[in-house]
Amino acid sequence: MTRPGTDDPQWAMVDEGWGRKAVDFAALSEPGNCREYVAVHHRLGVDAGDRLLDVACGSGLAIELARLRGASCSGIDASARLVAVARDRNPDCDIRVGDMHALPWDQASFDVVTSFRGIWGTTPGAVAEINRVLRPGGRVGITVWGHLKISPGAWALAPLRLAAAEKVDNQAVMVSLGRPGAGEQLLAAHGFVDVERVDVPFAWEFADPQLYARALAATGPAYEAIQNVGEAEFHRVAVEQARAQLRDGLPLRAQISVVGYLARKPEGAERA
Ligand SMILES: C[S@@+](CC[C@H](N)C(=O)[O-])C[C@H]1O[C@@H](n2cnc3c(N)ncnc32)[C@H](O)[C@@H]1O
Repeated sequence: MTRPGTDDPQWAMVDEGWGRKAVDFAALSEPGNCREYVAVHHRLGVDAGDRLLDVACGSGLAIELARLRGASCSGIDASARLVAVARDRNPDCDIRVGDMHALPWDQASFDVVTSFRGIWGTTPGAVAEINRVLRPGGRVGITVWGHLKISPGAWALAPLRLAAAEKVDNQAVMVSLGRPGAGEQLLAAHGFVDVERVDVPFAWEFADPQLYARALAATGPAYEAIQNVGEAEFHRVAVEQARAQLRDGLPLRAQISVVGYLARKPEGAERA
């Protein structure tokens, strides 16, 4: 697989962090998000015949679950190595490597667009693209991290703060879309109606501290921390963090606040 060079656009560099441990991400991390996927598909009423696009689809588990509901699915992610797993899981789907700010589909191609913690405070332009590829009357569901500090499972994200200060600051801007009013405003500004903010169930579970550390290390923000302090130190801090959370006879559990925004593109929007 060719690796991006210095002249490549920023999105093409995403694979460096998100793709470097794609197999660990797919097998150890992404399955922990399943409650979120099931809840949002249910709230959106994803059903047989729906043409669904998942933006920033990662290794494609959400697509696999939407297919089980009968949807015909497409996906896009900037990480070629995550897309390789997503295609392996969903061989008959149209899953592309690309940038969410320039979706390579015609306008009105989809009935439903989802994005699970893929749209951030730093990527508002992607919402305009989602609106373009949705048919009038189509539904959108995006999730973002909610109030992390009060989440019982906030400990599970704490090692990400080992990244350099400017990266940690950027992570804070990224999660700003979870603040009350922020997502509602963003979707309304891009012409969506019936915008609804919902609490989305989200809980990671791990068999032991080592598996937790390995799963977290497979994520993009962990790569930023690892670049700053090294793989061994990241692992040490993560394991120590998790040891403090061990409970007899129960898995490690990190319940984290996730917010969902559900909305609709108005009928007749294309004509307006
Ligand atoms: C927090 S992960 C979410 C992945 C997946 N939705 C999930 O639920 O696990 C963010 C994803 O966004 C992807 N990504 C980052 N920038 C992107 C861009 N500009 N265009 C498309 N995907 C992007 C990353 O490769 C990564 O898979």
